[in-house]
Amino acid sequence: MNRLQVSVQSATGSYDAFEINLVREGIEPMGGSVPREELALGAGFSGKSGQVLVAFPPDSNQAALFVGVGDGVDSESFRLAGAAAVRALSKDVTVAALLARGVDDPQLVAAFVEGAILGFYRYDALRGRGFDRSCLHQLNHLLVIADDTALLDASVGRAAIVANATCFARDLINEPAATMTPTRFAEIAQGIADASGVSCRIWDKAQIEREALGGLLAVARGSVQEPRMVKMSYRPFGHIGSAEVALVGKGITFDSGGLSLKSGDAMMTMKTDMSGAAAVLATMSVLADLGVGVAVDGYMALTENMPSGSATKPGDVFVARNGKSVEVLNTDAEGRLVLADALSLASEDGASEIIDLATLTGACVVALGREIAGVMGNDSELVQRLIRAGDSAGEPLWQLPLFDRYKKHIESEVADMKNIGAPGAAGTISAALLLKEFVGETPWAHLDIAGPSRSDSDERYFRKGATGFGVRTLCSYLEGKSH
Ligand code: BES
Ligand code: ZN
Ligand code: ZN
Repeated sequence: MNRLQVSVQSATGSYDAFEINLVREGIEPMGGSVPREELALGAGFSGKSGQVLVAFPPDSNQAALFVGVGDGVDSESFRLAGAAAVRALSKDVTVAALLARGVDDPQLVAAFVEGAILGFYRYDALRGRGFDRSCLHQLNHLLVIADDTALLDASVGRAAIVANATCFARDLINEPAATMTPTRFAEIAQGIADASGVSCRIWDKAQIEREALGGLLAVARGSVQEPRMVKMSYRPFGHIGSAEVALVGKGITFDSGGLSLKSGDAMMTMKTDMSGAAAVLATMSVLADLGVGVAVDGYMALTENMPSGSATKPGDVFVARNGKSVEVLNTDAEGRLVLADALSLASEDGASEIIDLATLTGACVVALGREIAGVMGNDSELVQRLIRAGDSAGEPLWQLPLFDRYKKHIESEVADMKNIGAPGAAGTISAALLLKEFVGETPWAHLDIAGPSRSDSDERYFRKGATGFGVRTLCSYLEGKSH
């Protein structure tokens, strides 16, 4: 896939590249040599974040790009600037140089790089010969020009790792369900594990049956594709025993709704229903590169949710891995069923804390919209730490209450619980309350990423399609736990 290369270079060295100059709101150039009067000529250019202007610096006959960074202190402004800059470059620019001399905070330069890589991303694996490639970038390299390269190397390198992992998650999610099957996802996970010094166990259908992963099986019954459970284990040098953090991802490679079939419109984007599993795999793939110092296990519960003669029917009851019985009244509420077993495994394996990510409920999109994920959990410290990690990563999380009395919403007439809540009432919370039944006493947090996992347009540093939401928060959380 077409990825942007980034390197840091000393301001004293020579380079041959199109220059990108940062400008604060109020038209204050950061570190460039361009007088503000020159820039003020650009009609409507104020320097707010993400604004761009192509102009000719004095004493030069070469155009340069000026990009606004707002107040010049906020990471998100620099991410937006990075994305806007790479998207604004003309198609014949192949190397661009960010003049970062006036920015003293390495985090801000890193944020620009992150935005540039994320904004550069396109999913074009499937575009054929008839496609006009001239609308794709020619840019392939971003140089970061700074006085103190040693100061920037680590933060820029880290930003590139995390942004590239996010792009990897996007690729997994954007690939059509016809080829991104549970089997294929598991093979990719095995390949990533082999390449990144992580161990990997894959449960095939027979093992899933033998080990009584009843929720995963109940969802998989309608599909001709076999389900898979994947567990990846990362252990920093000297760490043995259980994981300090278990990551769990919902991996429905296509959610048709099953017999409770979705409408055509609602089904259209449901290849993205494995965004949680993709975020877990992408995060696991970079833990060694990031030098994460805690032991992490990643569980991915993978299956299609399809209707057929063998599919689970509304009214059916299954017994989950931990022995609890669940009545399935709506086969479209399938995410919680596959997560139930993955959460049970994580808690049995003795993880010190569990974080799951899932495109779980439409209700969460209604409550928080497309830019904010819901977070709930049985441990408020863990939830707060995740919210802070999300803040620093630029991925907003908002806590919803795990309100105990709503447990009555998932009481079943025939089983220990049912898989849907009260109609039109707190659907995100009742889904989370069901998950809570499978984590035992382990501190646990659940991220409902149904809203932000997908963007409806090419805005900010996103493309229409998968955003890779969660990877940046998880990386930042795990790095924070490392010291
Ligand atoms: N995968 C969907 C949730 C979803 C909806 C994700 C929109 C992204 C965008 C999930 O499996 C689902 O269908 N949930 C149902 C649950 C209901 C039947 C209780 C929902 O939210 O409607
Ligand atoms: Zn569903
Ligand atoms: Zn789903």
